[in-house]
Amino acid sequence: MGRLLVVANRLPFNIARKAKELHFRQSPGGLAVGLSSLPESCERLWLGWPGMTNEKLKGKEEDQIRDRLAAEGCRPVFLSRRQVEGYYQGFCNKTIWPLFHYFPRRTVYEDRFWKTYRQVNEAFCDEVMKIADKGDSIWVHDYQLMLLPKLLRERLPDSKIGFFLHIPWPSSEIFRLLPWREQILDGLLGADLIGFHTYDYVRHFLSSVSRITAMEHTLGNVSVANRVVKVDAFPMGIDYEKYSQAIGDPRVKKEAGKIRKRIGERKIILSVGRLDYSKGIIQRLEAFDLFLSQNPQYRGAVTLIMVAVPTRTGVEDYRELRNSLEQLVGRINGEYGTMGYIPVWYLYRSLPFVELTGLYNVSDVALVTPLRDGMNLVAKEYIAAKADQPGVLVVSEMTGAARELGEALVVNSCSKGAIVDAIKQALEMPPLEQLERNKIMQERLRRYSVSRWSQDFLSALSDIKKTQERMSANRLSPAIAKKLAQDYRKSRKRLLLLDYDGTLVGFKGKPADAGPDTEILALLKKLTAHPNNTVVIVSGRDRTTLEKWLGEIGAALVAEHGAWIRRDDRKWQTPLSRDTAWKESIRPILQLYTDRTPGSTVEEKDFSLVWHYRRADPEFAYVRGQELKAALVNLTENLDVGVFEGNKILEVKSRGANKGRAAEHWLARRGWDFILAAGDDYTDEEMFSALSDEAYSIKVGFSASTARFNVDSVKEIRLLLKRLSGDLNDTP
Ligand code: G6P
Repeated sequence: MGRLLVVANRLPFNIARKAKELHFRQSPGGLAVGLSSLPESCERLWLGWPGMTNEKLKGKEEDQIRDRLAAEGCRPVFLSRRQVEGYYQGFCNKTIWPLFHYFPRRTVYEDRFWKTYRQVNEAFCDEVMKIADKGDSIWVHDYQLMLLPKLLRERLPDSKIGFFLHIPWPSSEIFRLLPWREQILDGLLGADLIGFHTYDYVRHFLSSVSRITAMEHTLGNVSVANRVVKVDAFPMGIDYEKYSQAIGDPRVKKEAGKIRKRIGERKIILSVGRLDYSKGIIQRLEAFDLFLSQNPQYRGAVTLIMVAVPTRTGVEDYRELRNSLEQLVGRINGEYGTMGYIPVWYLYRSLPFVELTGLYNVSDVALVTPLRDGMNLVAKEYIAAKADQPGVLVVSEMTGAARELGEALVVNSCSKGAIVDAIKQALEMPPLEQLERNKIMQERLRRYSVSRWSQDFLSALSDIKKTQERMSANRLSPAIAKKLAQDYRKSRKRLLLLDYDGTLVGFKGKPADAGPDTEILALLKKLTAHPNNTVVIVSGRDRTTLEKWLGEIGAALVAEHGAWIRRDDRKWQTPLSRDTAWKESIRPILQLYTDRTPGSTVEEKDFSLVWHYRRADPEFAYVRGQELKAALVNLTENLDVGVFEGNKILEVKSRGANKGRAAEHWLARRGWDFILAAGDDYTDEEMFSALSDEAYSIKVGFSASTARFNVDSVKEIRLLLKRLSGDLNDTP
């Protein structure tokens, strides 16, 4: 078993300078705990930024950090102050963080931030490359490193790369605001497995992929050139036992007792979290304010303990938030406080485990109401810490955690009224009901703990790698390509059957009617001119277009998937009857659907009508297409036409002609000693099936096919043809 390389912005250590000395403190976040449960036999290494800029390190401190961390299985990635400003404070926390948490008005789009983000992702890549071995699995974490999977893929094409996003993936409508959206998707799709906390994020990600890159996906599998990338939800859990057993620890008990003694009989509401605007802290306090104003009976009877953990203090928005929060706490305490009663106990610091679990334990209610949160582990920890004890969780439906905590009081965190009602309901809920609700959630959290989470993710990563291997078993390897070229050279009578769109030219970034580029024209001319070659372009395009684009290269042409054939005499012939009266009843339907589906068009050919939806919204067009298909199947029942679904098209065409039958015109001639057929679409399958076993059939792409071999892309077909034409040396 290879090693596991974990790459994250942070290391599981805090390094701080105290009295001139460097201090290392373990900060075991969820991830570190999850990984610690992996079998001993799985060697682990963790790479990340040590949290201090290079400028703050003196003399030999870099070496000191390196050595100390090495002993803990960690490797530092050192960053300069300029890098931290542009990458961490800039692109990560002023661009991605606000945008992905649905705060577009706080989002800053700056080219220099983006440049530094790219540069730092490259620096992480260089560090990984210094230690990576072929068999290692690499697990990249979070929004700080979204370009890393692709960078690693370029340098380690076969390695296992997983990526997990710990924050939400926003709706594609928000994501598309990002000027660098293509690059971010491209970066992520370098991974083999992309994990999110919830199915909603998976759904948003997939719709971003299909809308922005036009890549296809089915059941969470995205086809990316030669690979399939799996996208799935893995809700991160907690170390359940650690929290549920905490109250057994005398130190925790003592802490809880201390707090209870201070607060007396009053009810305690707890709010804990990083001081981040995404956490809805101001709104929570405002709701508490409203609660006290509407419920005078609770003044003096309930205390809100608010623990705000300092974070990202280098970013202005965070500094401003602290000021607003402290003003608000002051106002509420001024308004409702008395000599013996402080309504809000405010702490601006992080709490060690014992104090935190002491607080969980003693609190009657936990108020977890972020405006947006990828998961939120506090909600889960609170429930775990309440083993066999009452306690009510109020959780925002905008957190990933709410998906698994349906027995809590789930609220819309933007509605102050809803939070006020939930606080009241929580304070007045009968203890038995509290216990019952918690029990169900505890069982769920116990089962899907953080160790299950990390094991699940890593086993899904191995599974997708196996699937990829199976799918690429028929890949046209360099050895087979070499043999193909040798066979070509040896032969005297060669037949080349070549599909056009998606095989000789790509779809991406070009208008559908752009026509062939000079490279492919020159290549086809050269191949056609060779006396030993018969080249046939076997296309679905209409004959006028084919004639215009390829009429002069000397190749034979097949148009409309075999409905028209132009051989050496340059005359078009058709095996079909000219009766196309059926078009009159079908055309109006297609036009109706075109009007109702912006971006779609109708193409009319001699023997077919085609509804194209490549340029329409993919999900909308898919639904419309299914409706249209049902209507067409019904309408064509008694006609001699068929309805076919292809690559972003729906085609109604006369039966009796297909690419296989067209190919027969040439295959029937005897004496070929070399046959090559290449295609990418379902219509090419009939051509592949018509071939004998020795013929070379090549499918562009990796979906199911009867072709003998697969290649990634148009580029690879062109390279192969160049090799055959003699434009490329035949040395491996
Ligand atoms: C969130 C992010 C993490 C990040 C953490 C603390 O949970 O998903 O990647 O490490 O916040 O933020 P900080 O900026 O202090 O690393």
